[in-house]
Amino acid sequence: MRQVHVVDHPLVQHKLTLMRETERSTQGFRRLLNEIGMLLAYEVTRDLPLEEHEIQTPVAPMRAPKLAGKKLVFAPILRAGMGFVDGMLELVPSARIAHIGLYRDPKTLQAVEYYFKAPPDVAERLVIVLDPMLATANSAVAAVDRLKERGCRELRLVCLLAAPEGVERFHGVHPEVPIWTAAIDERLDSHGYIVPGLGDAGDRMFGTR
Ligand code: URA
Repeated sequence: MRQVHVVDHPLVQHKLTLMRETERSTQGFRRLLNEIGMLLAYEVTRDLPLEEHEIQTPVAPMRAPKLAGKKLVFAPILRAGMGFVDGMLELVPSARIAHIGLYRDPKTLQAVEYYFKAPPDVAERLVIVLDPMLATANSAVAAVDRLKERGCRELRLVCLLAAPEGVERFHGVHPEVPIWTAAIDERLDSHGYIVPGLGDAGDRMFGTR
């Protein structure tokens, strides 16, 4: 219960610092998010179950492990969650994608759903929710609410940066969903931004501000 994995791998920490820098270009920011996505995918899949298969190498038959069970699902929360998808698919090309469209009402900071499309058998799969910035956690809580309503039971959350308030709120509602993040920053400001953070992740990756 209430597991938080801070991925302190030097490559992740270095790339995160580059992303925080104000002068980082849109192109650079996007590329770094992709690369960190790949590294976080490696960590979040570390304990996936394996099963033995009979295979034939060019030299001899052998029993060797392959991933067991159904393909996993990456569930990016639109739009910033998309920044992780390409990097993660590089590592897990057979994964399915569930798009969850939520935006943050700037006045209430509440998550408003405008789109949801997941594989029909999503409830039978491990679902990894992608939300780069766990700030108020309203979006992540709402996304996991929606996935649970559709029967999902095996869920994980990957973010790039978290605020302590976001972790507390997320685990207050979904204590059994483990979190992977590259860092937990100091706090939220009065606009719901993570401090020191990196600004608006969506705007920085899509060049919309
Ligand atoms: N979303 C962002 O993109 N940045 C923050 O700091 C908080 C929420």
